[in-house]
Amino acid sequence: MNLIESLLSPAGRADPFPLYAEAHRLGPVLPIADTVFVIVGYAAVNEVLRNPGFGIRTDPSSQPALELMQRSILRANPPDHGRMRSLISQVFTPRRVAALQPAIESAVDDLLDGLPAEVDFMDRFAFQLPVTVICELLGVPTSERDRFRPLASDLTAALELTDSSDEAADAAARELGEYFVRLIRDPAPDSLVSALLAARDAGDGRLSDEELLANLILLLVAGFETTTDLLGNGLAILLDQPELGSDPAAFVEEVLRYDSPVQVTTRIARADGLSAGGIPMPAGSDLILLLGAANRDPVRFPQPDRFDPARADNKPLSFGAGAHICLGNSLARLEAKVAFARLLDRFPTISAAGPATRRDRLVLRGYQTLPVRLSSAE
Ligand code: HEM
Repeated sequence: MNLIESLLSPAGRADPFPLYAEAHRLGPVLPIADTVFVIVGYAAVNEVLRNPGFGIRTDPSSQPALELMQRSILRANPPDHGRMRSLISQVFTPRRVAALQPAIESAVDDLLDGLPAEVDFMDRFAFQLPVTVICELLGVPTSERDRFRPLASDLTAALELTDSSDEAADAAARELGEYFVRLIRDPAPDSLVSALLAARDAGDGRLSDEELLANLILLLVAGFETTTDLLGNGLAILLDQPELGSDPAAFVEEVLRYDSPVQVTTRIARADGLSAGGIPMPAGSDLILLLGAANRDPVRFPQPDRFDPARADNKPLSFGAGAHICLGNSLARLEAKVAFARLLDRFPTISAAGPATRRDRLVLRGYQTLPVRLSSAE
């Protein structure tokens, strides 16, 4: 079994970290076929992400779920990528994110108010907060939220590194597509959707209807699935080490490093003469970038398997780097910071109320259920 096959095995999906540690002993770049390279070293992953010579494989897909994602910014190369990125970042600005803080705080407080003493944290908090925030941003009515969790989960299953065509993913792509076609026809005023439509129309129509749809669905799905996983992964760590430390932002950064919600991304070499970690890569080579392994590289992070929010110079690659660096990173960080600070303020003692279950995934790493018992300060 090569490294990727081992990671995709049930044991690898459950706990990839021993495999990462073994991979680091072999080198930052591991060829697994003539033109397929697995990149595990922090410096090499960072180098690839920042080198515009490496891009996204854009083969047309016959699978509707993959085809949908191929049309979004996430899977675009220059010049399409820059065109979409400038339009979306025009409306998804740091100001818009910062302005959400009061809404995030009150969403967190509302959710905490409603929690019973024993609860599945994933269901009642980790999913609810990000979906509330992103729906508010996009102007999706509150009543629609609950249907998005299974749809997003089905859709992102198509991102796993297996070839199996997945009917549930395709059905989810269709349903989300139909939903957003309706939303675009009648967008909520002041929402990100209406702002994006206005930005597009103020320019010269530089976003096709299909691209608009694909990007809105991406924003919805990317906007909560990964953040849900970040909240769950962080809470699971708190169950073992119940100390947030003095700086919630540093805690969140260490959760991102230690148990990254996105473990893997991919690139191809788009030109000749490229290399990573000193290894030459012919044009057309496939690269599998293990973000989760880079975050545990002992060369970059001393004692990488130790959870330490006080770690100096902690810059994990969990949001990627370079041209495709996550557009929602400041929103995700803000949600997690507010959530953990207020959660521990309200419930200083949080303990496991039963065994947690992991989502059976490699690429998007998180929990399916996380039963906890909460005790308030009073
Ligand atoms: C891109 C991770 C939350 C929107 C990415 C990428 C990663 C990532 C690794 C880059 C993929 C690549 O280079 O191949 C995460 C994590 C999150 C998170 C770990 C939460 C903890 C969000 C949120 C939003 C968002 C809240 C939006 C509301 C996007 C978009 C892209 C992206 C639009 C594509 C950017 C581009 O291709 O230029 N994210 N993300 N993400 N993310 Fe996130």
